[in-house]
Amino acid sequence: MAQQIPRHIAVIMDGNGRWAKERGLPRREGHRAGAESVREAIEACTELKVDYLTLYAFSSENWKRPKAEVKALMTLLERFLKDKADELNEKNVRLQAIGRLNDLPKGPLTQLHKTIEATAGNTGLTLILALSYGAREEIIDGVKSILRHVRDGLLDPAMIDPDVFDKHLYTRYYPDPDLLIRTSGEMRLSNFLLWQISYAEIVIADKLWPDFRKADFHDAVAAYAARDRRFGAL
Ligand code: FPP
Repeated sequence: MAQQIPRHIAVIMDGNGRWAKERGLPRREGHRAGAESVREAIEACTELKVDYLTLYAFSSENWKRPKAEVKALMTLLERFLKDKADELNEKNVRLQAIGRLNDLPKGPLTQLHKTIEATAGNTGLTLILALSYGAREEIIDGVKSILRHVRDGLLDPAMIDPDVFDKHLYTRYYPDPDLLIRTSGEMRLSNFLLWQISYAEIVIADKLWPDFRKADFHDAVAAYAARDRRFGAL
């Protein structure tokens, strides 16, 4: 049986657009409702004493969405980071981020750094936002970092193994996810943490992300706890 509580949970928060469409609302309203589910996911993880929660908040591919939607998401992100700083501190949550962060507009990027700084001393849950994140891009950036180290004589190519490669990824400070949750019933990985989820248990929930609340999060963790994890062994 798997350990009862996963140490690291990663989430693909899918279905905001469909949630809004079902209600005849603009897509940005779906993202706004999705931000409330983010709050509940953080609460659930705090209650369960999960150590790391990684949320796929904006993918490298999301830049291709209409300008107005990208802008709405960036505004929502900036506001979330500003408004939630006190709440994160109250809950002893430390904020971190992965992705090509310098692609973000100045406003959200500055606020991101501020909130990371303001929560740096917290020792409870580590909340990792994946922003302008793509797993293939991360792997390419990792390969480039390895090549620089080899070129500068800091790394012997014969020493390169999965543990060494891990140290060149954005996620180098965190353990691999034990559980990957995707909402809205889609069975895709969508370029999320491809290297890191090699042995993660996957739970697909049918609910759309804005409907996926604390009780659903607890249910996903219960489904994980019932799994038999063997990591390729017997
Ligand atoms: C996928 O739904 C969701 C996103 C692209 C963005 C996730 C963002 C949030 C939950 C907003 C708040 C987050 C933070 C951290 C402030 P979709 O738009 O792809 O939905 P669809 O597949 O139904 O169109």
